[in-house]
Amino acid sequence: MNNIKIEVNGLAELDDAAKKIITFAQEERIFIFEGEMGAGKTTLIKVLAKTLGVTEVVTSPTFSIVNEYDMNGNVIYHFDFYRIKNIQEAYDIGYEEYFYSDNICFIEWPGKVESLLPEHHVKIEITAVSENDRLLSISKI
Ligand SMILES: Nc1ncnc2c1ncn2[C@@H]1O[C@H](COP(=O)(O)OP(=O)(O)O)[C@@H](O)[C@H]1O
Ligand SMILES: [Mg+2]
Repeated sequence: MNNIKIEVNGLAELDDAAKKIITFAQEERIFIFEGEMGAGKTTLIKVLAKTLGVTEVVTSPTFSIVNEYDMNGNVIYHFDFYRIKNIQEAYDIGYEEYFYSDNICFIEWPGKVESLLPEHHVKIEITAVSENDRLLSISKI
């Protein structure tokens, strides 16, 4: 199965959605999150991280673009490319060392670095249906 859709009716259903996404993703390491401002990208990423066993945020040298989470001694990288002005800024933070590290990468605003994204990834599109309801369309690319 290469794509699934999940209805999330309220924040309380996010835990269950996160479990389904993790099961669907299997060994994939790169997750990109599409959706408007306020769609719920950051909120979902935090629930995914918690579901994977993350308990603390680790400081990061470029914390405005990438945050690091500790997952039982492994690292998860969480990018928010919203504020980058050009692709050079992604080169400057050394994006390759993150994207090809084999660690899990959660990427918000992937369109800002589209040409740099690894070929294989899990795409999660979030649509706000109402104030608390979201539709997640998840596919393996
Ligand atoms: N089902 C839901 N899934 C995700 N966020 C939701 C949901 N219902 C309400 N929200 C709210 O929507 C907002 C999403 O904000 P955020 O995660 O920062 O969005 P983004 O990162 O996409 O800009 C939060 O205030 C969150 O509490
Ligand atoms: Mg966000």
